[in-house]
Amino acid sequence: MKKYILFSLSLCFLICSCVQKKTQNENIDSQNISSGVEWLDTDGNRINAHGGGILYHEGTYYWYGEYKGDSTYWNPKVPSWECYRTEAGGVSCYSSKDLINWKFEGVVLKPDVNDLQSDLHPSNVLERPKVIYNDNTKKFVMWLHVDSHDYAKATAGVAVCDLPAGDFEYLGSMRPNNVMSRDMTLFKDDDGKAYHFYSSEENRTLYISELTDDYLKPTGNFTRNFIDQSREAPAVFKREGKYYILSSGCTGWDPNVAEYAIADSIMGTWTVKGNPCSGTDADKTFYAQSTFVIPVAGKKDAYIAMFDKWNKTDLINSRYIWLPITFKDNGDIDISWQSEWDLEKTFK
Ligand code: GAL
Repeated sequence: MKKYILFSLSLCFLICSCVQKKTQNENIDSQNISSGVEWLDTDGNRINAHGGGILYHEGTYYWYGEYKGDSTYWNPKVPSWECYRTEAGGVSCYSSKDLINWKFEGVVLKPDVNDLQSDLHPSNVLERPKVIYNDNTKKFVMWLHVDSHDYAKATAGVAVCDLPAGDFEYLGSMRPNNVMSRDMTLFKDDDGKAYHFYSSEENRTLYISELTDDYLKPTGNFTRNFIDQSREAPAVFKREGKYYILSSGCTGWDPNVAEYAIADSIMGTWTVKGNPCSGTDADKTFYAQSTFVIPVAGKKDAYIAMFDKWNKTDLINSRYIWLPITFKDNGDIDISWQSEWDLEKTFK
């Protein structure tokens, strides 16, 4: 009888903890990824990693993103557009083995709360951090958009670390190739060369800039792309020798239609292919904006497009939309709306 009671109690406990786990994270349901819902980390806290990017290193995915402060305000010093912003809390990092369950590793690039002059002071702008690994220097190298509170500074910052989720050392900011730099991403090619993609010339033209072998500076070799087409939010990937770039138009936090382009060479020339999105709200990128494309490790043709669904008046409460990319026979792509999809079944 005693044994039976003990057994029943353990069973109850097991069932309760499973139920609780489910309610703690709407997004964890076997291998499902849900679009635009609240996504919790393994401690049950909301994932705070916006404008992010993913590094895959030795069997683990690392998700780096903007660690946003929790009070959004409107910046009246910027009259030309609706400049909602929040305190820049540095760059967060989460780790995962399966792309579904994310463990908070901490804020790996910390804000500098004491020095008003520092790029990392919370009153400034820190956006779209991306990290790549340098096989020669054995350093993890982060680039990010560093700006003044009114977005007038328009620079790129660089930080390094010996570990993927250690304390990154901030090296400073620059205007790469002596031009403005705002929305950005990094791309490391198969030959180990790396490139910085950034919106420049008041966001009108997208620069692709080769990086030095240590990934810390531009080499001076760059191209101007999508000239006067105002492309932002670049996300780059490679498949079967061809390069792809997803980007958004230029409407601040508000959504617009996405576009993709393909090139045989990373520095261009790029051929614009149009809107990759289909289904509900495809003409507004599902009310979201591109930030990165994740190649799923060890799977052929498995790529996930990451988008931010900005909540401009409550930025910390912005959500994530991750959708699989499908490829047609001619290499064209499609990203169709799904409110929920199964990662394992999609990428067999
Ligand atoms: C967007 C950009 C975001 C952020 C925002 C500010 O266009 O993609 O990263 O800078 O503007 O309004």
